[in-house]
Amino acid sequence: MLNRRKFLALSALGSTALFEKGLLAAGKPNDFTAKPIVVSTWEPGIEANKGAWKILGSGGRALDAVEAGVMVTEASQNCCVGLGANPDRDGYVTLDACIMDEFFNCGSVAFLERIKHPVSVARRVMEKTPHVMLVGSGAQQFAISEGFPLEDQKLSSEAQKAYNYWLKNSEYKPVMNIESKGNRGPSYQPVFKSGEFNHDTIGMVAMDINGNLSGSCTTSGMGFKMRGRVGDSPIIGAGLFVDNEVGACTATGQGEDVIRIVGSHTVVEWMRQGLTPEAACKKAVERIVKIKKDKAKDIQVAFLALNKKGVAGAFAIHKGFSYAIKTGNIEKLIPAKSLMD
Ligand code: GLY
Repeated sequence: MLNRRKFLALSALGSTALFEKGLLAAGKPNDFTAKPIVVSTWEPGIEANKGAWKILGSGGRALDAVEAGVMVTEASQNCCVGLGANPDRDGYVTLDACIMDEFFNCGSVAFLERIKHPVSVARRVMEKTPHVMLVGSGAQQFAISEGFPLEDQKLSSEAQKAYNYWLKNSEYKPVMNIESKGNRGPSYQPVFKSGEFNHDTIGMVAMDINGNLSGSCTTSGMGFKMRGRVGDSPIIGAGLFVDNEVGACTATGQGEDVIRIVGSHTVVEWMRQGLTPEAACKKAVERIVKIKKDKAKDIQVAFLALNKKGVAGAFAIHKGFSYAIKTGNIEKLIPAKSLMD
């Protein structure tokens, strides 16, 4: 597993070292097709993909793979996903997740507290209730009834540091994804005092050996958010969408702006009209930038899509977003193209 320490070490090594390790591709979009294939957002996607591959590589179903894959990240005490992640402004970690399969089955949880694997609770919502989404104490009550243990909240040391720093001014000025500064180059170091890592998400989409698609998305959302705030990640159509005839898409970044354009569904519809995954993601990013006008320079949103042929592509507002890809013989971190530096 790419634990937090290894992740930080890899991040600190930066793109040069990742390239030398053979994990970072030379800036090209995925121009090959593959089956099975799994792609996921950001550097932690490398380890998450390995978790997914245990299922995909032995002929398993994409749905099982995308659940198992993001569970790796949820369990990693990563600063930005799972129970060790950045809390809301009142100090509570609240988690959002969703999952969707090849039959338009989907499940989602939001504002869920003290449960280690929100993606698995989302899957139970999908499989064991007539509903798509449960939130807050109701989602937690359902999780407990399904046998999920109630955990004690234990912030990672990075999250605790970041929260302590934020508390000094307690300024409510949500700025999503400092990744937007594109500072994940060779000299990249996490800088908690500047609010680094105040947000992140893992979104994963996969196609199994039978050509079926599924996706998952899980996050602690915006760091130091207003209590009760929910972003795009648990919203089917926004943070994730799967249409088994066409493709799948997931999003990361400022959730409010992904929701505004129902981002992942929009990308899938553009793939239906014939756009490549990268072109469809780019068009969605352009739509957000057009809406946000000069405010777009302050936010990051990225989309990651996979089409039915097994071609993956991504696009971001700002430089700095990368996605991890794994097939039978390829394992890479690919820097996405962006509209702005
Ligand atoms: N994209 C994650 C969030 O906005 O919460």
